[in-house]
Amino acid sequence: MRRSAPVHFDEERQHWDLFRYEETNRVLTDYESFTANRAGSENATDDDGAMFQTMIMVDPPGHDRLRGFVNERFQPGTLREYQPRIEELTEEVLDQIDGENRFDFVDEFAIRLPITIIAELLGIPAERRDEFKEWSDALVARPEDGSESSIKRSQERMQWAQQQMGQYFAQLLEERQDGSGDDLITLAATTEELSRGEQVGFCMLLLVAGNITTTNLLTNALWCFEERGITDAIRTGEIDRKQAIEEVLRYRSPIQSLDRVALEDVELNGRQIREGDVVTAWLGAANRDPELFDAPEEFRPERSPNRHIAFGKGVHYCLGAPLARIEADVAFDVLLDRFETIEADLTDLQPLRSLYGLESLTCTIE
Ligand code: HEM
Repeated sequence: MRRSAPVHFDEERQHWDLFRYEETNRVLTDYESFTANRAGSENATDDDGAMFQTMIMVDPPGHDRLRGFVNERFQPGTLREYQPRIEELTEEVLDQIDGENRFDFVDEFAIRLPITIIAELLGIPAERRDEFKEWSDALVARPEDGSESSIKRSQERMQWAQQQMGQYFAQLLEERQDGSGDDLITLAATTEELSRGEQVGFCMLLLVAGNITTTNLLTNALWCFEERGITDAIRTGEIDRKQAIEEVLRYRSPIQSLDRVALEDVELNGRQIREGDVVTAWLGAANRDPELFDAPEEFRPERSPNRHIAFGKGVHYCLGAPLARIEADVAFDVLLDRFETIEADLTDLQPLRSLYGLESLTCTIE
């Protein structure tokens, strides 16, 4: 498709699909022609649901107000100071699986680690962490199968979790508006430019945007390393861990696509996009565009430079990218230091239906 129809109209979905780096880049950076506001968020109010009032749905200039207050907290320099704590939390998550030499990497590590870290950054009290995990799980729960009843069940659970979590965040934000803590809930609570609904939306966005994505980065990393038989070379430093993780982001991008809506008529690669049309930018395809990457179908852990767009592009470039990178780097540092061998069973892998990742990945450790 990249070569034969780089800008393709899908009649069934009534959507445009973009498969090349060039057009994907254009659509993600040109917010004056393509809006990230997929659901009428400009006119959203506190009653419309927290998620519509967040930075990910709003274009500049409103975007700056919704993101500006927190940018500093997610800078690589700021996060580096927090790295020792990430290492401790990673050890704690691994302590919970110690003793078993066979476990599901997805359930017992890749899901738990990002939730544990974000719960601490937000400042969720330790005694509420189990409840918090239950809500976070429900927020990203996948239907057990494709049947209508199972889809409905998972939607209901999601709505329930959103409601529970929304109320819980609202209560914590209220309690912390005196500004005594240094967690992200306190930061949001003391940011006067945001309404309470926007503060709640911000807290929920961090969970929705940051957890399942990082889970899949961790899972896809072990999958790629084992598939290529390079886990030991990463352990010994023969292959650079950070660079290998970048290649995982390119080769198996957790988020495969992003949608935008055209705000005006625009021509893209000779095709006429009309105002109001939905455009799907395929990050996964752009990340394998031969115009930009040599041998794009090959996993090359030493690839450098690696100009993948797994974290998006433009004003909505992932706020949590530096955190996700540190989490993945620390995770494999600690994991490979702790276990002499780690072997993943790569037979019968079940892909996720939502993002690019796996349902489970059974590992044997020693
Ligand atoms: C935005 C990917 C981890 C928070 C995005 C976008 C992508 C992305 C592609 C752009 C969305 C768009 O343009 O519509 C990923 C991947 C991750 C990851 C692949 C892990 C490997 C995280 C983490 C956090 C986070 C750990 C926070 C704790 C956000 C936020 C936005 C965002 C708040 C919206 C930024 C804005 O609109 O200005 N992410 N993300 N992400 N991500 Fe991430």
